[in-house]
Amino acid sequence: MKKVAVVFKSKYGSTEKYAKWIAEDTCAEIFKVSEIKADKLEEFDTIVYCGGLYAGGILGFSFIKNNYYKFYDKKLIVVAVGATLKKDEAIEEIKEQNLTDEMKGNVQIFLLRGGLNYKKMNFIDRLLMFLLIKSVKLKKAEELDDDTKGMIATYGQVVDFTNRNTIAPIINDINN
Ligand SMILES: Cc1cc2nc3c(=O)[nH]c(=O)nc-3n(C[C@H](O)[C@H](O)[C@H](O)COP(=O)(O)O)c2cc1C
Repeated sequence: MKKVAVVFKSKYGSTEKYAKWIAEDTCAEIFKVSEIKADKLEEFDTIVYCGGLYAGGILGFSFIKNNYYKFYDKKLIVVAVGATLKKDEAIEEIKEQNLTDEMKGNVQIFLLRGGLNYKKMNFIDRLLMFLLIKSVKLKKAEELDDDTKGMIATYGQVVDFTNRNTIAPIINDINN
């Protein structure tokens, strides 16, 4: 049986929830990125990296990038967790912003929906969201995409779009 490691970094818990579900369904070992050394991952066949999306960047992904030369012969799956409703278009943007050219042909990327929790949000994130909402509110309603409309509608609230069923394609990919 293939050995699977799930490595994650989460700020407010959505990515952690998905990482735990994926690990449960694949009998994988699970690690916080801050608690694992790259050398430890050499004993695994498949590495699943899960990170929250912040301004298009995958949280903690420098760990994978910096150590990619140790993982290039393994199956590497990246799970980005964001608030966006976009699918293929967002995945292309995530690839462009986060993956090196070498990684692009080799790494499978999945995008899952997390949430927004203004109750837990730190000062900087709250401020960034405030400034973002302020700037998009200056636009005409017809110029706003669905993500922006959703952000305005849920501003200041706790919204959770996590859904265990959405990990099915990832579990399938890990097992094949
Ligand atoms: C400052 C900030 C920036 C964000 N940027 C993005 C983004 O670029 N794309 C996206 O889809 N979601 C974005 N989000 C939403 C988060 O990705 C979402 O809350 C996700 O569930 C976070 O995962 P975590 O709880 O594991 O940290 C952003 C949230 C904050 C607070």
